[in-house]
Amino acid sequence: MSVPQPPEPIPGARLLFSLDPAVSHLNHGSFGAVPVGVQRAQQRLRDEMEANPLRFFTQGLVDRIAHTRRHLAGFLGADPDGSALVGNTTTGVAVVLQSIGLRAGDEVLSTDHGYGAVSLAIQRECRRTGAVSRVLPIPLAATDEQIVQAIRAGLRPGRTRLLVVDQLTSASARLFPTAAIVGVAREHGVPVLVDAAHAPGMLPTPVAGIGADFWVGNLHKWAYAPRGTALLAVAPQWRDRIEPLVVSWEQESGFPARLEWQATLDYTSWLAAPAGLFTLRSLGVDRVRAHNAALAAYGQRVVGDALGVPPAQLPTRAGRGCRCVSCRCRPARAPASTPRRRCRPGSVSGSPPRWR
Ligand SMILES: Cc1ncc(COP(=O)(O)O)c(C=O)c1O
Repeated sequence: MSVPQPPEPIPGARLLFSLDPAVSHLNHGSFGAVPVGVQRAQQRLRDEMEANPLRFFTQGLVDRIAHTRRHLAGFLGADPDGSALVGNTTTGVAVVLQSIGLRAGDEVLSTDHGYGAVSLAIQRECRRTGAVSRVLPIPLAATDEQIVQAIRAGLRPGRTRLLVVDQLTSASARLFPTAAIVGVAREHGVPVLVDAAHAPGMLPTPVAGIGADFWVGNLHKWAYAPRGTALLAVAPQWRDRIEPLVVSWEQESGFPARLEWQATLDYTSWLAAPAGLFTLRSLGVDRVRAHNAALAAYGQRVVGDALGVPPAQLPTRAGRGCRCVSCRCRPARAPASTPRRRCRPGSVSGSPPRWR
């Protein structure tokens, strides 16, 4: 099988990042990579903070955070006053789980495409409250209709208190039909939390039109924000019930300030996040998305070739900056063309996720 050439790099893009050029960075999705200009913007904010900490924290920081949130929410298609900045998707998930008032006998439904740490959070909250965690198996190659159908069949109205689904799944690289899933859950009166860790930057306005009760996504992956920047969007009927993990001085201000003000923290990652959007827009959001999708398609072909999976059998529906190669069993011996074998030790940075 012949593997096509990789897509041409976006001119100048490599210079925007401080990634080690001796390493092939195959995994942007786990921890992102912060462009140099965004690192500098954050450093300038840190300089400001260190020049006069008292002024930085006590004069206008709450407003600056709110202003930043409005900017980021606009990019994501979220209601700026119905969203809150949080440190990461894991935190947003924990906030939702502890705010919905689970009780003994309740059930939290999720799918086996969910992210491991989110599953652990669900399990812990269920242990703490006496609720039950149930995980629906969804086949890797299920169509959108089959996914919606499986979820419809899996809901237990009156018992299922929360459905947790991913917008873009981590290990299996699927784009779930989130709006349709939310529609079905709503018919059954079940609130939905969408884990959209990968959506900001990868999907245009990923919050808009879904209608989820809760949606949380990271800007520190595909939207070039400094690490520790995520947005939690909450439907109006839930906002008064949302409680922060840590109670601090803005508790009485209600949602979203009570969630955003988490005592003495370094808030500069949030304040510098708009610089990440600026970088993305300067490169061209559509151009970056198309390039990432082409790179992922190329990587899929390379891995498929190494594993002996013909191109016609590769899952084709991704069209995003992530792809999967389904391979039921480990090849008896690694083929000579395995990408890792072509590279010097330590020159590739990536960690294939495990699914099932
Ligand atoms: C689907 C999904 N959910 C949640 C997370 C957790 O993100 P964070 O570590 O920023 O909380 C990830 C991280 O890659 C993810 O892929």
